[in-house]
Amino acid sequence: MSKVRAVITGIGAYVPKYRLTNEELSTIVDTSDEWITKRIGIKERRILKPEEGKGITYLAQKAIENLRSKRDFDPLSIDAVIFATTTPDYVLPNSAALITYRLGLTNAFGFDLSAACSGFLYALEVGEAFITSGKYKKIMVIAGDVLSVVTDYQDRNTCPIFSDACGVVLLEGTTEETGIMDSILRSGGNSEEHLIMPGGGSVHPASHETVDQRMHYIWQDGKVVFKYAVTRMADTCEELAKRNNLPKDDIHWVVPHQANKRIIDAVADRMNIPLERVMINIDRYGNTSSGTIPLCLWEWEPKLHKGDNIILTAFGAGFTWGATYLKWGYDFA
Ligand code: UT7
Repeated sequence: MSKVRAVITGIGAYVPKYRLTNEELSTIVDTSDEWITKRIGIKERRILKPEEGKGITYLAQKAIENLRSKRDFDPLSIDAVIFATTTPDYVLPNSAALITYRLGLTNAFGFDLSAACSGFLYALEVGEAFITSGKYKKIMVIAGDVLSVVTDYQDRNTCPIFSDACGVVLLEGTTEETGIMDSILRSGGNSEEHLIMPGGGSVHPASHETVDQRMHYIWQDGKVVFKYAVTRMADTCEELAKRNNLPKDDIHWVVPHQANKRIIDAVADRMNIPLERVMINIDRYGNTSSGTIPLCLWEWEPKLHKGDNIILTAFGAGFTWGATYLKWGYDFA
């Protein structure tokens, strides 16, 4: 019997309408379009305005609408919803359960998965295991964040970077030579010292003091995170390509987490892959955490062909990082 693999059979995404440009940001903190463009590579990012009173599940539902406009499915056919996010609507209930209820996915169970910027890769891994176990046939993997709610707009070291978006893919089984071929995922390193949102968890539950001390925002030591991001992503991509006997010329696309254009350039350079084969949209959308990789795949979907070799790679708080090798499953109709 041929081996069953998990393959992406459809993709959707959504970004909020509001564009926060570098020019507008320069009126909020001491920065400039020139500095942000040169040091980070972002020109504008999308923000879910707080007055809309909506959270990540709003973006997810819009992304699912987008998916269904291209590849509709029977709500009763979905077995599970895995929602990678660090900015759920609430601590409880989980965001995946809200989606199963609102969309009438009455045969599905749903849970959130927290792995920061590596969330999409981790969720794909879990979804793949569900499919290849033979127990489940159709998994919805959602990945996205509303980072604007945990971004300190008084901190010029972080506020130009973070933004909001959500993507969704359907995972199904196939016996063809497509789908998720291999992956290397890791966690470790001292993120508490270098990349953390200290308030709101069980160590520092929300209080007047945590609010006064601005502990409900992401804090990072940018230079340290930068170095780790480059080496961890490049090393796992190298290892993955090597153990799958995948020469550089056979890699059609590298899809890196969009944290900083200089990080992307450095990873591509270390992998010796020309930038024409690297998906980059950080200039328009910024760093949307777990949303960046599905957002790239969604934008590039019309250009992808069945059988294309694609390497996804991410690094984020935790630290979490890794790389996933997949063969694209379909031609865009
Ligand atoms: O998604 C995963 C998590 N995050 C990341 O992967 C981010 C990784 N790190 C980075 O992307 C970069 O380290 C940053 C974009 C955060 C910072 O860039 P950098 O080139 O490492 O800047 P820096 O922290 O070394 O600061 C250089 C200078 C400093 O001024 P002085 O001390 O040289 O006078 C900063 O105060 O740039 C200054 N600076 C800014 N100037 C204008 C820092 N932020 C800004 C700003 N506008 N927004």
